[in-house]
Amino acid sequence: MDKLASMDPLKNPFSPGAGSPPPELAGRGPLLDQARITLGRIKSGRPERSVLMVGLRGVGKTVLLNRIRELADELGFSSILIAAHEGKSLGELLLPALRQVLIQLDRMAQISQKTKLGLRILKSFFNGLKTKFHDLEIGIEVDPETGIADSGNLESDLAQVFIALGEAASDRGHAIALIIDEMQYLSEKELSALIMAMHQISQRQLPVVLAGAGLPQLVALAGRSKSYAERLFQFPEVGALDPIDAMLAVQEPVQEQGMQFSDNALQEIVRQTKGYPYFLQEWGYQAWNIASGSPIEIAVVKRATQESIRRLDANFFRVRFDRLTPREKEYLRALADMGDTTQRSGDIAERLNVKVQSIAPVRNGLIKKGMIFSPAHGDTAFTVPLFSEFMKRIMPFEKK
Ligand SMILES: Nc1ncnc2c1ncn2[C@@H]1O[C@H](COP(=O)(O)OP(=O)(O)OP(=O)(O)O)[C@@H](O)[C@H]1O
Ligand SMILES: [Mg+2]
Repeated sequence: MDKLASMDPLKNPFSPGAGSPPPELAGRGPLLDQARITLGRIKSGRPERSVLMVGLRGVGKTVLLNRIRELADELGFSSILIAAHEGKSLGELLLPALRQVLIQLDRMAQISQKTKLGLRILKSFFNGLKTKFHDLEIGIEVDPETGIADSGNLESDLAQVFIALGEAASDRGHAIALIIDEMQYLSEKELSALIMAMHQISQRQLPVVLAGAGLPQLVALAGRSKSYAERLFQFPEVGALDPIDAMLAVQEPVQEQGMQFSDNALQEIVRQTKGYPYFLQEWGYQAWNIASGSPIEIAVVKRATQESIRRLDANFFRVRFDRLTPREKEYLRALADMGDTTQRSGDIAERLNVKVQSIAPVRNGLIKKGMIFSPAHGDTAFTVPLFSEFMKRIMPFEKK
């Protein structure tokens, strides 16, 4: 084998990047099996809790949602995929997607009054929103169903839209998968409206399922919005891969190309990345480009570590750091110095020499930006794996 040519960067199988499908989706079999069961049950009109996956940055939530969408499509669902973000309301994000699904239902063979009604209700929902967002466009050529879903109160309107959608789908013997990424960015009101709408759907056993993902604070947010959220949703945790799966995630793609990592090299990758999917892709990617042949040895991985950290510092970590205010940076720097684990919020305040109450707005700002979360009341932890080490690199000295 021509060794140099065989490490052709063009053939590099790894895919570090937000939502990029990995060459080997390691360790997620049980989660996907569960999703398959949930979808299958909803499709056949059986009750099942919707799925909200939670996990830190870069663990593979978006990749899983995309995979769930494919599964839903294979099972004959119509799926809607949106990603919440700061600065755009849930209504605005949902409207075009819901419109598309209803129009798709409307085009199916026989005429369905329920679908027509669904479209009219969507139109009136749109009218309700329009008073808030003047430049909205919808382009549905039907008269609104005046008086339904147009109150402008999201909680009642959204439920009515969902019921109409569910009934239209059910009338067609069809099912709908609503897939929402970055759910932690929804406001409490929006989350509450969404939960309430899904509650109505499940009471009527309509064929609509919600598959969502978000940072770990989503569980508490959902519980605060509606206390029954726990009974309505499953919250599977998506975390780092265990060492065996982590090794598989990098070894398989390389073996696919007729090459391999040595055992020591694999162990070093697991040690450095702690099994976090994003980092596995990054380390694999760098190691491939540095290696001159197979097996890829530990010395190559050590160089890959330097290169990966340099790249992460310039991109993955950096973009997040640049969005912080000086006080937020100080807060995270103090947290970083206390270690990579969960800390008591009181201890962080003490370290910063301030009262817990006076630093609370800074902490809340960081939670909103998705930088930290509260694993339990009064606790604080980073949402971005390995961020504490980055904070120490970028701010070598803690300001006291
Ligand atoms: N099971 C897996 N095995 C190996 N690599 C994976 C796996 N899941 C995801 N990845 C890789 O991890 C990276 C991050 O995936 P993804 O963007 O889905 O994470 P995320 O949880 O959505 O992150 P964020 O919270 O920042 O949106 C991608 O490069 C992807 O290819
Ligand atoms: Mg994502």
